[in-house]
Amino acid sequence: MSEAGEGGAPAARERIGVIGAGYVGLVTGVCLASMGHEVTLRDIDAERVASLDAGRVPIYEPGLAEVMAEHAGRLTYTLSLERMLERSDIIFIAVDTPPTYSGDADLSRVMGVVEELERVGADARHVLVMKSTVPVGTGERVRAELDARGLGQVGYCSNPEFLKEGAAIADFLHPDRVVVGSFAAADGDRVAALYAPLGAPIVRTTVPTAEMVKYASNAFLATKISFINEIANVCEEVGADVAVVAHGMGLDSRIGSAFLRAGIGFGGSCFPKDVSALKQLAGNSGYHFQLLTSVIEVNELQKRRVIGKLKKHLGTLEGKRVALLGLAFKPETDDMREASSLVLAARLLAEGAEVSAYDPIVDISSDRLKGVTMSASAEEAVAGADAAVLVTEWTSILAMDWAAVRPTMRSAVVIDGRNALDPLEMTRLGFTFEGIGRIPAHVGVPS
Ligand code: UGA
Repeated sequence: MSEAGEGGAPAARERIGVIGAGYVGLVTGVCLASMGHEVTLRDIDAERVASLDAGRVPIYEPGLAEVMAEHAGRLTYTLSLERMLERSDIIFIAVDTPPTYSGDADLSRVMGVVEELERVGADARHVLVMKSTVPVGTGERVRAELDARGLGQVGYCSNPEFLKEGAAIADFLHPDRVVVGSFAAADGDRVAALYAPLGAPIVRTTVPTAEMVKYASNAFLATKISFINEIANVCEEVGADVAVVAHGMGLDSRIGSAFLRAGIGFGGSCFPKDVSALKQLAGNSGYHFQLLTSVIEVNELQKRRVIGKLKKHLGTLEGKRVALLGLAFKPETDDMREASSLVLAARLLAEGAEVSAYDPIVDISSDRLKGVTMSASAEEAVAGADAAVLVTEWTSILAMDWAAVRPTMRSAVVIDGRNALDPLEMTRLGFTFEGIGRIPAHVGVPS
């Protein structure tokens, strides 16, 4: 990889600090190092810092370990905020902002960072760059807090991340757009210059607008998913095939084909949290965001629809064995946050079913999977089962020899929760097969 990134002129070499070596912070730091900058990552978790120092990546993200190793000479990991501050001028904040009980985002970690900056004496050469997803208005709060603490010289920008887990390196280095919101144009210039070599459009704006771009983007993508899921449910009633419907819709360039895959709902650490935070934010400002209320509700119901499909084929689920194939909220990640598999497993157990499960990388000791029997392979999970549910479309699971496993099942029912298997082929192999809003394909189904 060239140090200039993929696009225009190389950026000046900057001294970058990153607070929080979690998913977003680590990817940001490693990618900026790959573009030629000196990067110091600071985390409060000693085990994590030790692991990074030893060259071990504490999260699962394809390609990250390789880029990290290649640019190890420009990456420093530390527990000390003082050390990070000494070594850096532009400081990315990438701490987490989990939802609170009220659905608002918890900003205590972000505000904790500001407090620490006062203690260690940040100054005029420092620009803070907010990467964490924070509610609209947070930048103004942080700005006021900095000013109140005598840190008026410290710059502040909002630079939201648009990284998809599993494709984060490519998303960082080949972004569709970069958004930079600033209070002072000079601070925005410094941050925008970091991204100039990537050749992507850079949207320069105010801090609240930049914060809103992030929420609106995630909320819109989530809306697209809930929309196509409802179309799928109607397709089931009228005998239409949602895969063809989505294909036909997506060819309209105003609609676009992305995020029109019907299934058992969206999960992960971002969509559910951000959609409810935006709804909450609107509510707190006196506006009832009706559409998002439905997006959330449709998603919750969608996760449970599989139960109805199983009952249709098996009758009562009491004593029946159901295999869940894939547990992570999507393939190429070990992330189980808000995964549909958790709701499904709990519902199945509540119905008295036995649940076996397989995932290529999810930690099988997870407390949240209590009562679920973990298998070493998809084949083992399915053997002896009354039904199998494809929950996460891992390539290795899709590629299983379905013809060979069919005779090992007690009854050959397969529910494809991700519309990733070919209905015609599965029916031909002798399975009682159902997708989400699909009919056995005859014509025009995209591959
Ligand atoms: C999402 C956004 O795509 C990123 O742009 C954003 O930066 C990130 O959230 C974030 O806010 O940090 P991610 O959570 O990694 O990224 O996951 P996605 O690939 O977007 O998938 C989200 C969920 O939607 C998954 O459960 C997936 O299975 C589901 N999905 C996606 C569908 O059900 N149908 C689709 O057509 C697409």
